[in-house]
Amino acid sequence: MQISFVASADVKANEGGALVVAASESPALLPAAVRLDKASGGALARAMKFSRFTGKSGQFLEVLAPSGIKASRLILVGLGKAESLDEKALETLGAQIVGRLFTAGESAASLEIDVPKRSKVKKSELAAHLAFGARLRSYAFDKYRTRNLDDYERKLKTVRIITPDVSAAKKAHAGLAAVADGIFLARDLVNEPPNILYPAEFARRARAQLSKLGVKIDILGEADMKKQGFGALLGVGQGSARESQLVVMQWNGGKKSAKPIALVGKGVCFDSGGLSIKVGTGMQGMKGDMAGAAAVTGTILALATRKARVNAVGVIGLVENMPDGAAFRPDDVLTSLSGQTIEVLNTDAEGRLVLADALTYTQRRFQPKVVIDLATLTGAIVAALGFEHAGVFSNNDDLVKRMQAAGRHTGERVWQLPLDPFYDKMIRSKIADMKNIGGANSGSITAAQFLQRFIEKGTAWAHLDIAGVAWQDGEQKPAIPSWGTGWGVRLLNRLMIEHYES
Ligand code: BES
Ligand code: MN
Ligand code: ZN
Repeated sequence: MQISFVASADVKANEGGALVVAASESPALLPAAVRLDKASGGALARAMKFSRFTGKSGQFLEVLAPSGIKASRLILVGLGKAESLDEKALETLGAQIVGRLFTAGESAASLEIDVPKRSKVKKSELAAHLAFGARLRSYAFDKYRTRNLDDYERKLKTVRIITPDVSAAKKAHAGLAAVADGIFLARDLVNEPPNILYPAEFARRARAQLSKLGVKIDILGEADMKKQGFGALLGVGQGSARESQLVVMQWNGGKKSAKPIALVGKGVCFDSGGLSIKVGTGMQGMKGDMAGAAAVTGTILALATRKARVNAVGVIGLVENMPDGAAFRPDDVLTSLSGQTIEVLNTDAEGRLVLADALTYTQRRFQPKVVIDLATLTGAIVAALGFEHAGVFSNNDDLVKRMQAAGRHTGERVWQLPLDPFYDKMIRSKIADMKNIGGANSGSITAAQFLQRFIEKGTAWAHLDIAGVAWQDGEQKPAIPSWGTGWGVRLLNRLMIEHYES
């Protein structure tokens, strides 16, 4: 799907397709809608009279094959209250319009959405965020469909956004386009099946996508990691026929001397549970257990694409957790890169083992200013927060506030859960420094306590448990069409803009 910005004068030249205009709540047709109403002999006003359309956000009114003009259809969208029309609302609107056009089977559309009088949104921002939402909604993953392609084909090929200052809109859109690219990469990585996307293949794709943008990539294989003592990460991968990998992505867009912001991702390309094997239904979807790593990779791509003035490093631990004669066992004791020993009591609590070594490596090598890890870590976070918030755990309240603010801005919201010595006691081991599971309850918190044991004194750290938000299922909102959501790219990008870019 092609999205372009065009000045109002161009629209008369274009033929056919849908024309999309807006009304604010009450309802009141905005200028473009008034013009279109006149051109179509009052078709919009007449249709409004026979409908429940009041201009509320999310409302649509459609007039098919209007007489007197070439358009295939007129679509009137509600913008709701002018005060609540923010960037997020515009993105949702762009997504809804595209969804509507897909359903209609429309092949082209021109959107002319005016800024309502009492709104503070800039015209260029409105155009840019509409485009961003439209683009995100256009995502599809059908590379493995070979039959009945017509059923899945989206006819919509061209979306024109009419805006008075095309170059201002393009400028406002450039950064968002980079973020959309990052989200699409993250979604693709999550959606790829695990027979195709195993650790080495993930690493290859990260290198292929990022090195051409000026990102420095290091890939460590099992021999390197063994030499250095990644006992926890390698323990998880040792039952797999696929080689474990650690990928380090450095984007140095900031001042030479500035310590980097580190993003660390859980990249379990498939989580069978290992010898503590999952039941069949619990194993479905576990190709997406690398969504943390995918979000980190997508974020680095977004930062590099828009040449963000920040030093950021992404470190992802890529493994496959499989049962096998060579697999690690419940009762094994692993020695992590930090030197701390871990008694494994459940091989399905593997993400924290992968992250432990990735966190140690990241801190030792980069002395980062801030470390943020992302992981589909626990089923318990889904039970606690569902699909609307990721869980955030942190040793730094300012960092939490910043993440909450960035979350409210982008719609990728986070909810803080506690860390506390009481929970830390729950992972004491009888024979080693810690065990990899807590008790029956507070599973997301004991997992976070485990990670905190690998955070060095003085490092500001936040852990995001994204098990509920990284993918969509039946309960998810319709704005995100496919399985992987790319959750985290928008949030982290915003956090950089607000706090860490020079
Ligand atoms: N990858 C899972 C967590 C998960 C579960 C993500 C469901 C998305 C949906 C993780 O490795 C896991 O298996 N966690 C266990 C931990 C338990 C064994 C302590 C869990 O949540 O059940
Ligand atoms: Mn697991
Ligand atoms: Zn897992």
